[in-house]
Amino acid sequence: MHIARPFVKWVGGKSRLLEQFESLYPQELRKGFIENYFEPFLGGGALYFSIAEKYKIKNAYLSDVNGDLILTYKVIQKKHSDLLEFLAHYQEMYDKTSEKKRYDLFREVRKHFNDQRFEINYKKLSDNWIPRAAQFIFLNKTCFNGLFRLNSHGEFNVPFGKYDSINIVNEENTRAVSKILRNARIVHADYSDCYDKITAKSFVYFDPPYRPLTQTASFTAYTGTEFNDARQVELSLFFQKVDKKKKAKLMLSNSDPANVNPGDNFFRKAYSGYTIIRVCANRSVNCDGAKRGRISELVITNYMGRTG
Ligand SMILES: C[S@@+](CC[C@H](N)C(=O)[O-])C[C@H]1O[C@@H](n2cnc3c(N)ncnc32)[C@H](O)[C@@H]1O
Repeated sequence: MHIARPFVKWVGGKSRLLEQFESLYPQELRKGFIENYFEPFLGGGALYFSIAEKYKIKNAYLSDVNGDLILTYKVIQKKHSDLLEFLAHYQEMYDKTSEKKRYDLFREVRKHFNDQRFEINYKKLSDNWIPRAAQFIFLNKTCFNGLFRLNSHGEFNVPFGKYDSINIVNEENTRAVSKILRNARIVHADYSDCYDKITAKSFVYFDPPYRPLTQTASFTAYTGTEFNDARQVELSLFFQKVDKKKKAKLMLSNSDPANVNPGDNFFRKAYSGYTIIRVCANRSVNCDGAKRGRISELVITNYMGRTG
């Protein structure tokens, strides 16, 4: 049986950290006491796919502010066979286009994707969602590093990625993802919208855009709105509110300022009293090439008794 995994390449994707995260999940998840899983900064959903395969959770609530990403999840959930047909069409077009002309093909799809954005009703699944989801996947696979970036007009503006070959249609994974998403609630929303649904039997994993380690290393504008320090602090207040009022198990990850500035105690202050653990990451964005492989990231929880 194929194990579902992220169908997009995503900045800040957690696939490479799953093994280290495994020992940091709450005991209650292992013991089967967690009924609801929440991932309000969904992105590629690496943790969700891994947790949904391994543990028995009754409900999953998955959300992100990226409307096209959420649209694509919903299309895979409800219309994966139709989507696969469109993806096969894009794969064929890409494969039969000469290397020189692939750049033109990319620009054509990107232009169509941008021009079409005002015709999409993100609130209601309709037939025009299916080609849009296919274009979203096509652009993710063919653009530079799988980035998703919008300019001030809301246009996707990532350049072409120049890959020799790409796999646009991954039929097995698309079917596995669709199956695992069957019982998930997928929502286009700000992270704070999940508050009312969280209960004491919930596990919430927060993976916000990283706080940049340096001014120049910043890649936090996934949707055209910056997740700056003020927003990081707002999130920490939300974390504290959910902890106190809902008694749910909470885990959050972010960049570790100590990689560049050991004196920076931003997260220690924002999450004072909570457990802060360092894990070893191998990031491909926001990361000085020389340090790749040795950079650490923070995991903050409300359920382990030590502070790092
Ligand atoms: C670090 S990525 C998550 C990566 C994900 N864990 C993975 O494995 O691919 C952060 C995500 O948060 C989303 N985001 C940014 N601001 C948000 C907000 N206010 N509410 C919800 N999602 C937000 C971005 O669109 C992006 O997909």
